[in-house]
Amino acid sequence: MCGIFGCVLKEGNAAPLIHASLKRLEYRGYDSVGIATISEGKIYIKKDQGKIDDVHKILNLDDLPGNIGIGHTRWATHGAPLKVNAHPHTDCTGEIVVVHNGIIENFIELKNELQNLGHNFVSKTDTEVMAHLIEETLKQNPKLTFTQAVLDSLKRVEGSYAFAIISTREPDKIVCARNESPLVLGINHQGVFCASDIPAFLAITNKAVMVNNGELAILTAQGYEIRKISDNTPITREPITIEWTPEMAVKQGYPHFMIKEIHEQPETLRNTLRMQEHYLDLLTTFLDRANEVFLVACGTSYHACLAASYMFSKLAFLPTFPVYASEFVEQCGKSVSIDSTILAVSQSGETADTIAAVTCAQQRAATILSLTNVIGSTLTRISRVYIGTQAGPEIGVAATKTFTSQLSVLAQLALKLAKKRGKVSQDEIDSLEENLQKLPDLAETIVNTQEEKIKQIAKKYADSKVFFFLGRGISTATAFEGRLKLMEIAYIPSIAFPAGESKHGPISLVENGFPVVFVCPKDECHKTLIGNIMEMKARGAHIIAVIEEGDQEIKGLADDYIEVPKGIPSVLSPIPFAVPLQLLAYYTALEKGFNPDMPRNLAKSVTVK
Ligand code: G6P
Repeated sequence: MCGIFGCVLKEGNAAPLIHASLKRLEYRGYDSVGIATISEGKIYIKKDQGKIDDVHKILNLDDLPGNIGIGHTRWATHGAPLKVNAHPHTDCTGEIVVVHNGIIENFIELKNELQNLGHNFVSKTDTEVMAHLIEETLKQNPKLTFTQAVLDSLKRVEGSYAFAIISTREPDKIVCARNESPLVLGINHQGVFCASDIPAFLAITNKAVMVNNGELAILTAQGYEIRKISDNTPITREPITIEWTPEMAVKQGYPHFMIKEIHEQPETLRNTLRMQEHYLDLLTTFLDRANEVFLVACGTSYHACLAASYMFSKLAFLPTFPVYASEFVEQCGKSVSIDSTILAVSQSGETADTIAAVTCAQQRAATILSLTNVIGSTLTRISRVYIGTQAGPEIGVAATKTFTSQLSVLAQLALKLAKKRGKVSQDEIDSLEENLQKLPDLAETIVNTQEEKIKQIAKKYADSKVFFFLGRGISTATAFEGRLKLMEIAYIPSIAFPAGESKHGPISLVENGFPVVFVCPKDECHKTLIGNIMEMKARGAHIIAVIEEGDQEIKGLADDYIEVPKGIPSVLSPIPFAVPLQLLAYYTALEKGFNPDMPRNLAKSVTVK
């Protein structure tokens, strides 16, 4: 997730306005920033790694000439957060300048092709291919207009994008285009703007024009034109008036970041499925060689590790040890050696306990692999290989979209390892891969169809004094995560454990009306889980079951149920099943009058041990 902005002004300098607008988009990414303008047929660019204010102090981002320009605030996906990878990116001649939010899936093929044609790439980004591709398109067909060359080039690009592109060839316009990544136009008496999100320009105009997937827009000081990328047909679309306050706009109209981030999961899951094969392969090779693998993390990331331990075992026959990072040194420190592999998982890449565990393992010459949402974080710097989880910045303290992104990447790793080890039949692999691709749509369906119902369930149980969250097999991890969410934002003491453990103690707490959330995918544990539901029911518990659609058996036993689409393979189930539990926690917190974005005593990133 990055932020892009562009503007064509009737008069005056564009750079200060771009700078101010990028500041308002900083919540979309903040590891590098850059601005390009055109003045008297010349391109001017300033860019560097670092937060906008820090880069501005050194470079003065307001000081570029020209009434037209584009800017970018970055959240690294391809290439570390270094100056060379900061946007804007240019072609070989420096005449075509591009900013981009999204992931170009086929950039390696395009880059190879363009390099073979003599193009000189300077960055590690996927974005740079677009500048060279337009240059090449124009070289092959010099009669094309700049806009036509962008259109033709877009037809070769696969993946998600919001582009804003300028060129000295047609210095009076910005060409922008959208596929999956957000893009919106703004318009006022000063000129025309394009941006990733409305907050970027809401301070100067509330007149916005939405750009849809598969559309391209041409911005000039006189106005805008929208066309279909597929056949260049013009589209007429009038501006709408945005009634949001600036604060609402940052949350895209949602009352809290947490619910915005829950709703973003279809998009973030789509991004994780665009993961670069190369990094997955590399990590898989290390895991394949490993004698013992420790999965190390804190909080929600630990629950992703717990789920991953089932995935690695079931698919790749690889035993792994999930360990709380805060316990790692004491529990495993001495036994770690050159033969050990650590797979650390951390949203922030800065959690002190995780860094301490990894540092300890590193000193004992272990191989350090990691998964993090923040490229350039401490964890990425001390890892042999790392993968970015591509969820974009998460602002709500309670992790939601980063959890499902972590799970999606871990599932892809387990699947790759299974393939490599030949442990699972090709049919099963094909079916799992197909199901992985369906996850973004499943998350969307769950949010669309169950949210209202979950609100009612939250209302019904909000005054409960305590909750149980139970599952079996991999759903134990889902239950742990559901319990953490409810506890941390709704302040209801909650207990989670594998359902089979009930009879060894926890069941003694149960009395009439005691709410028990069961996580019930239709997997190999389903039958036994029904036994556990019966045990609870017999003691008067109220059963809230998260079930697969059409699971009549459990529907008949439950007091309340939430349905997720059916047919999800067990190893992937924590991803869709986590979504209703996130919603349950969110709406319970609201019922109780708490702000879910800022739970008391908690921090997004805990940098003390
Ligand atoms: C804090 C956050 C949690 C998070 C945990 C681990 O406790 O409030 O949401 O799961 O840290 O953070 P990490 O960034 O390492 O995933």
